[in-house]
Amino acid sequence: MRPKITCHMITSLDGRLLPERWMDPANGRIGDLIDVHYESVASRLNADGWIVGRKTMADFVKQHVSVDLLETPMPRKSHFAERGQRQIGVAIDPGGRLDFVSDDVGGDQAVVILSERVPDTSLERLRAAGVSYVFAGPEGRDLSQALEQIGKQLNVRHLLLEGGGVTNGAFLAAGLIDALSTLICPTLDGLAGVQAIYDHLGTGKSQPASGQHLALQASETLKGGVVWLRHDVTRDA
Ligand SMILES: NC(=O)c1ccc[n+]([C@@H]2O[C@H](COP(=O)([O-])OP(=O)(O)OC[C@H]3O[C@@H](n4cnc5c(N)ncnc54)[C@H](OP(=O)(O)O)[C@@H]3O)[C@@H](O)[C@H]2O)c1
Repeated sequence: MRPKITCHMITSLDGRLLPERWMDPANGRIGDLIDVHYESVASRLNADGWIVGRKTMADFVKQHVSVDLLETPMPRKSHFAERGQRQIGVAIDPGGRLDFVSDDVGGDQAVVILSERVPDTSLERLRAAGVSYVFAGPEGRDLSQALEQIGKQLNVRHLLLEGGGVTNGAFLAAGLIDALSTLICPTLDGLAGVQAIYDHLGTGKSQPASGQHLALQASETLKGGVVWLRHDVTRDA
């Protein structure tokens, strides 16, 4: 069994991804609303850790490395470092580009989901930094397989999927999101083409949410006019 996945995001009224673009609400500052609510609501969800895409993890791991990927993918063994009582912070980094210098990501233990094209030299660097890693198939696209391993080996039952839009879109299209936790701020982005909080990179005909349905479980108005919505996802058989 893979862990339950709850996608926890903060957004503008028009569903956009990038807080640095949002205007301040009538009373107060948008940055203050995010600081007050995002992490405190996340902690109310009682998860064992969080997952983000390679670009969002760059907030914690500032450097990237250049990696010569293997021409032929090679299955290798996953590696699990000691995590103690810490939560886990998972990055989806199929090309092994994040340059971890330690296993610490915001106080949590770093875990990386890689493709089987990542060379052994990159794995040695990760092990030396104390970082755990699992593989998601030849191209790093088999997220379900990677999540099952993380669940089993690290005894993880519930993870928060925390962006960005491309990563959330990939999970949505793969039918891997079980619940949504959405903080809607009293603000707008308003510009055409700016990324949304779910942004699957498909063709014009793709329908990443096809066969999936939302049911509202709870709503709460928080300080500053932020609305917190919780939905469960059901899937057609
Ligand atoms: N509003 C919010 O709550 C919120 C939350 C988080 C982040 N953000 C913002 O979102 C922005 C980044 O979002 P983003 O959508 O551009 O990037 P992202 O989702 O953080 O990262 C995308 C990258 O992750 C890897 N990846 C993700 N899913 C994959 C999959 N299924 N298969 C293979 N690779 C996968 C790929 O890395 P490679 O390119 O290396 O292949 C891909 O380019 C940042 O500005 C951040 O501040 C907002």
